[in-house]
Amino acid sequence: MDKKDVSAKVAGDISLGGQISVHRLGFGAMRLTGEGIWGPPRDRKAALAVLRRAVELDINFIDTADSYGPHVSEELIAEALFPYPAGLVIATKGGWNRPGPNQWTHDATPVHLREAVEGSLKRLRLDRIDVYQLHIPDPVVSFEASVEALAQLRNEGKIRLVALSNVTQEHIERARKIVPIVSVQNRYSFADREWDYVADYCEQNGIAFIPWFPLGAGKVAGQVLDRIAQAHKASPTQVALAWLLRRSPIMLPIPGTSSTEHLEQNVAAASLRLTDEDYQTLSRVPALVASR
Ligand SMILES: NC(=O)c1ccc[n+]([C@@H]2O[C@H](COP(=O)([O-])OP(=O)(O)OC[C@H]3O[C@@H](n4cnc5c(N)ncnc54)[C@H](OP(=O)(O)O)[C@@H]3O)[C@@H](O)[C@H]2O)c1
Repeated sequence: MDKKDVSAKVAGDISLGGQISVHRLGFGAMRLTGEGIWGPPRDRKAALAVLRRAVELDINFIDTADSYGPHVSEELIAEALFPYPAGLVIATKGGWNRPGPNQWTHDATPVHLREAVEGSLKRLRLDRIDVYQLHIPDPVVSFEASVEALAQLRNEGKIRLVALSNVTQEHIERARKIVPIVSVQNRYSFADREWDYVADYCEQNGIAFIPWFPLGAGKVAGQVLDRIAQAHKASPTQVALAWLLRRSPIMLPIPGTSSTEHLEQNVAAASLRLTDEDYQTLSRVPALVASR
């Protein structure tokens, strides 16, 4: 494929809450931080270059969180891209903290979410965050209280659109009684379909579904992926992304990488058309794994 043809536009567009339209292939900025999603990247220049290249490739949806680094991912985005090009949507998150490498702690109290939003606004150098996602429900905080806090911040103009991550359908239904929900971000790939029913619910309700860890994992999945990738002269990653894009028009993958080369490969996946047979074969991988 000619490098100049590589563009996130090829993936088509998706509307977030009927208010913002973005190309249906975004970028996940978690992998730009140091080892264990902790501290600064080993090569800061390279991390900044990946972000700038993402925008050159027409990516206009970047996913991040206050906890990536912590703070590092948001700071890199601002350093690389501010003043932001028109139409670039940065979706950040709060409610899940990073106290050390590979460690997570919950805090989705209204007080913390307000502090988190204020911190993200500062680091991203924004007056308003386009998409703000509750990172994960906090088991010791009322879910309604967390969502109400985000609805209040939206009323104050600090957030434009509210979104959720790591939730069940029941969470989405409860949240929608409080505030419109524009996207849901859950772990999902062709091989990892626990949240199929949530993706279906999102499709029925015009909510974008943002799969994290979109590249899949596991030995059987890898074997099937390799075979289909070879037939298309594509990489396994590209096949996994092409499956997601075909799964539903509400799917908005955000593959994460710290490498410009991988980024270009991932964006090129928007042009890969799987045959019906490839798509069905990949869709059957979870059943294949379960039967062994
Ligand atoms: N909501 C949540 O709870 C949650 C949780 C996890 C992640 N996320 C978001 O989802 C995004 C994606 O998830 P993820 O980063 O965990 O998983 P991913 O995108 O499925 O995988 C990233 C890994 O794959 C490698 N990779 C990427 N492109 C590749 C390519 N073309 N060829 C070979 N290897 C490639 C990356 O390494 P290299 O750096 O070497 O390319 C990295 O190790 C994150 O960046 C983050 O924004 C959200």
